[in-house]
Amino acid sequence: MTTLAILTAAGSGSRLGRDLPKALVELDGFPLVLHAARRLVASDVVDSLVVTAPDGLVGIMTELLANDPRVQIPVEVTDGGPTRQASVSAGLELARPGDDVVLVHDAARPLVPPDLVRRVVGAVRNGHGAVVPGLPVTDTVKQVRPDGDAELVTGTPDRSILRAVQTPQGFDRDLLVRAHRTGAARALAEHLAATDDAGLVEALGEPVYIVAGDAAAFKITTERDLWLASLVLQETNA
Ligand code: CTP
Ligand code: MG
Repeated sequence: MTTLAILTAAGSGSRLGRDLPKALVELDGFPLVLHAARRLVASDVVDSLVVTAPDGLVGIMTELLANDPRVQIPVEVTDGGPTRQASVSAGLELARPGDDVVLVHDAARPLVPPDLVRRVVGAVRNGHGAVVPGLPVTDTVKQVRPDGDAELVTGTPDRSILRAVQTPQGFDRDLLVRAHRTGAARALAEHLAATDDAGLVEALGEPVYIVAGDAAAFKITTERDLWLASLVLQETNA
């Protein structure tokens, strides 16, 4: 009965627009992937890590994680795939026989609080096969469809029943494997990739549960997010 965390770090970071992959961009002197790994480890509920690396960077990432005194659990680094979904599938291949719970976390969410990690794993261990952290939506959201040079609003969903979801997402290992097998086959047929792992579980018709997310687990997508993250760090270190 062990918990594996798959840390997805194989993306290019095109929207950040740096000349190196997003997971290796530094925040407060350390690459994002290291921040994320340290926080997963600090939760004390993760037994091992599998990290998906961009093309040609398995060696660099292995060294980075192996030499960090705060990442004192077994770490394997593997090549990611062309999509996030393919990267998670590649990571899942490396699960060990005893891993009954699998977390999937994005290196792009470097400031995930260890408490949030514990909350997700706790809910999976309490019998929920798929668990996702979520936050209430603060903006009013419109549903639209293209209409000439603009978009036509086709509806305004009730905000109170919407949640913006984050990672880590936690799963019963067998359920996640099944969801990926089925999802991968469907994606191949339909030329699309799921944006999160919970979506693949939903597509199986299996229940997905939400636990309280945390604003600190926000995703770094653009330069502004990186700037925000460094402010958050300054504030917490002060
Ligand atoms: N990811 C991955 N393999 C891919 C694509 C994405 O492991 N083929 C990872 C990223 O490294 C990131 C997470 O999935 O930690 C979420 O993806 P995103 O925020 O979209 O990161 P990037 O794809 O790197 O950024 P962009 O979409 O701007 O290129
Ligand atoms: Mg992306």
